[in-house]
Amino acid sequence: EKGGYDYFMLKEIAEQPKAVADTLLGRIDPSGSLTLDEVRISPPELREVDKVVIVACGTAFHAGLIAKYAIEHFTRIPCEVELASEFRYRDPILDGRSLVIAISQSGETMDTLMALRHAREQGSKVLAICNTNGSTIPRESDAVLYTHAGPEVAVASTKAFLTQLVACYLVALYLGQVRGTKWGDEIQAAIKDLSRISEDVERVLETMEPVRALARTLATKNTVLFLGRHVGYPVALEGALKLKELAYMHAEGFAAGELKHGPIALIEEDVPVVVVVPSPRGRSVLHDKIVSNIQEIRARGARTIAIAEEGDEAVVPYADHLIRVPVTPTLLQPLVATVPLQVFACELATARGNEVDQPRNLAKSVTVE
Ligand code: M6R
Repeated sequence: EKGGYDYFMLKEIAEQPKAVADTLLGRIDPSGSLTLDEVRISPPELREVDKVVIVACGTAFHAGLIAKYAIEHFTRIPCEVELASEFRYRDPILDGRSLVIAISQSGETMDTLMALRHAREQGSKVLAICNTNGSTIPRESDAVLYTHAGPEVAVASTKAFLTQLVACYLVALYLGQVRGTKWGDEIQAAIKDLSRISEDVERVLETMEPVRALARTLATKNTVLFLGRHVGYPVALEGALKLKELAYMHAEGFAAGELKHGPIALIEEDVPVVVVVPSPRGRSVLHDKIVSNIQEIRARGARTIAIAEEGDEAVVPYADHLIRVPVTPTLLQPLVATVPLQVFACELATARGNEVDQPRNLAKSVTVE
């Protein structure tokens, strides 16, 4: 059932282009706009929404952090993202005009379920983004947008994460479309970009051998740090989470702009630092700032591993190792930049002799508190 792969995780990483394409299937109509019939919250109700709150745990929370950028960009509605385990014990300010989005692969995560109950008690509508048909979270929500990743067996979430990102972009674009917040052209162009992204995920997968080789050389390290900015910041958090759960290594993700506020003190000789480099096009100021972050940490002895777009030459002099990803629009970069981090963590786990699909102390769905 592992389809010739040593681990389910490897199989599921390889399935990502299809999972992404399947999640888009039937949701983009021939005219190039979105039809999300399953989202049974009516357009007039969606036009009333004045706040979006995303609740989730673990990897799904990271998808939520990325979704915030797309939702605020395409809808101009304020969006908050909160760990379900924190949200459920707060007294959040919600009402009938708040849209709460609960993201969960399994649909059974206790904290996320409790968070959505908490939101519904306050009259908010809840939209679930879920991968498991008929599970508890979608059953208790007002509407559900299913991700079509297929069954995810490995404890470490991979293809579910990419499809959660796709579903989040679909929601952001759909809300933008319904509310008419952005020029139709911009939404249509973004839908087109999204419809092509699975090909880019496929291309990244073809270039993963050097990432594996690099991971093997780091098997005896104690710490790996991850840096990112903008949508690259949650990608850094996700890279660190994967490494913790699979390689049992100390790994931390930071917002690159925070380096000077503390984390730079951690940089010492030969510590590996993975940097997610934003595109030099678009928000080029972010790119330039990250390049100077790479320079700074390298000057202090870090071993820099840059994940950068094809054709980005500015990083070359400062990257000890360079991992190339295809050119994508900024908001879609997480779909390609996360893949090498999954492969990296999986290979490090193997090199350290760890059980990849069933890491110690972890369960696939966390149905207890
Ligand atoms: O099933 P869910 O998406 O609700 O699960 C949430 C987290 O438990 C899950 O993403 C966890 O962090 C993964 N093991 C990470 O790889």
